[in-house]
Amino acid sequence: MLTVARIAELRAVLQGWRREGARIAFVPTMGNLHAGHMSLLAAARFRAERVVASVFVNPLQFGPNEDFDRYPRTPVEDAQLLQEARCDLLFLPTVDEMYPEGRDQATRVLVRELSETLCGAVRPGHFEGVATVVAKLFGIVQPDVAVFGEKDFQQFTIIQRMTQDLSIPVEVVGAATVRATDGLALSSRNRYLSSEERAVAPVVHAALAEAVRRIDTGDDNWSAIEHAGHTTLTDAGLRPDYFAVRDAHTLATPSAQSRDLVVLAAARMGRTRLIDNLRVTRR
Ligand code: PAJ
Repeated sequence: MLTVARIAELRAVLQGWRREGARIAFVPTMGNLHAGHMSLLAAARFRAERVVASVFVNPLQFGPNEDFDRYPRTPVEDAQLLQEARCDLLFLPTVDEMYPEGRDQATRVLVRELSETLCGAVRPGHFEGVATVVAKLFGIVQPDVAVFGEKDFQQFTIIQRMTQDLSIPVEVVGAATVRATDGLALSSRNRYLSSEERAVAPVVHAALAEAVRRIDTGDDNWSAIEHAGHTTLTDAGLRPDYFAVRDAHTLATPSAQSRDLVVLAAARMGRTRLIDNLRVTRR
């Protein structure tokens, strides 16, 4: 695996691969890689001859009181895991390489509406930071296909929408959420959990599964389902930001026509914020 930190170096390598006619798949990450990220690498490997991953903790998507400084950075372990996943090229830029004019001067990409709801309502500017860095990474790597986790369902929806709206010629593919055996969705932020908190954390998945079960039985009283989920999380000692039943395409409250739904939750536990979701098709 090659590791490069400069955009110009990356371009030179990719140019050679494209000349050989190789299809290129791309997996953007913020590092501290786990089995969830590895499943994205496997999906990328399956779809292309060459796989590029990036590790960049993007300051633009962190709020002033969020965890940018203490976000787990594990470059040696990350490189090892990427190598094992048969990644061909790791792009590891500095903040200066990505935002040479300074982070406040950078051109921004904003996907309206989709960025304002759910996590966007509690993390103002977050999805603008995500859309901006992903658009820039797409411009740098120019992959044929890029793989994102459905674990961050709102992020996935926003990136699909941005790619479509800006006519970016990249196929955006979703990969299923990888979970621990007790249901907890794997996340780099899980390492912030104390052992007591870790024991309770699967309640998020359990509450989502219960909502899906109700919808499966024909229940369409969304506010009652949301209220029950909220209560389950609060009773377990979490502080929910939201527990919501939404249309999986628009992220709006389901209409009478909505068939593909998604139940999403975000909740704080101590100093950790957990997010998760489950899809459900209404009969
Ligand atoms: P990060 O949190 O490192 O996640 C990188 C990718 O891994 C995202 O597409 C995310 O959805 C996926 N992922 C994380 N946990 C997963 C799990 N348990 N199962 C499946 N996929 C999982 O998301 C970001 O970084 C950033 O916002 C980024 C897109 C890189 C832009 O900075």
